[in-house]
Amino acid sequence: GKNIVVTGAASGIGAETARLLSAEGATVIGVDRNPPAPGLVARHIAADLGEPGSIAIAAREIGNGIDALCNIAGLPPTRGRVPVLRVNFLGLRELTEALIPQMNDGAAIVNLASLAGLGWPDAIPAIKSMLALRDFDAVEALCDTHGIDDARSYFFSKEVLIAWTLQQRWTWRERGIRMNCVSPGPVDTPILGDFLQTLGARAEEDMRVMDRPGRPTDIAPLVAFLCSDDSGWLRGTNIACDGGMHSHVLANLN
Ligand code: NAI
Repeated sequence: GKNIVVTGAASGIGAETARLLSAEGATVIGVDRNPPAPGLVARHIAADLGEPGSIAIAAREIGNGIDALCNIAGLPPTRGRVPVLRVNFLGLRELTEALIPQMNDGAAIVNLASLAGLGWPDAIPAIKSMLALRDFDAVEALCDTHGIDDARSYFFSKEVLIAWTLQQRWTWRERGIRMNCVSPGPVDTPILGDFLQTLGARAEEDMRVMDRPGRPTDIAPLVAFLCSDDSGWLRGTNIACDGGMHSHVLANLN
């Protein structure tokens, strides 16, 4: 079986992904600030993925021989712009870059983005600033420069994540390491309430389009596919998995 690192394995989509990958025969190393359910992962590594020091320690503990990395840990929009951007993008990139040298050739990286990142082509200047930012303590200043408040920060974190995934799709080409991302619409996990709160009146319309919120079991199989060799020619794709929400939004723009 493959050795697969799953961040956010203690809850929601990450927990279901860890369960599914284990059931398929993978050895799952969970990384989360909270402990996962007993027996869910082969190994749990406690880390704060918004702190570079904690990320460096976690990367050392994870060790070599990684076949896939699922970056699923994330904070909802209600947590404030600095933690949201540190966890949802800066920390995710930091962990990924730390683990690349520890990956096997042919490894797959899968990032959990969101429907919230759909508007990334309209935010290129701010995205470029974020991609150039390495200092975790400089997030607040960047937000001030680009007018990113708490409410916008979650959307922006996922816009940056999608743009980075597209940009880095095949950066580690000589080693066959590829990167893709998945963008769910609202999914029924402990943070669904946070999203609906941020969307306000639009939430009702979204629910009508989707018939029902997503479930972790709608998303995990897609993440598992992107980890598998069967998806080997997918590089730098952002795959919507959202009950039709992306096409609903795009059709309204046309
Ligand atoms: P969740 O809240 O159920 O799980 C998130 C996990 O990330 C938790 O176990 C939490 O402990 C961990 N985490 C958060 N901050 C951390 C930190 N600083 N260090 C280490 N671990 C940390 O959330 P859910 O819904 O499973 O979300 C997973 C991913 O899917 C997130 O990236 C989220 O943005 C994304 N997503 C979720 C949607 C939804 O409606 N639930 C929709 C679209 C995307």
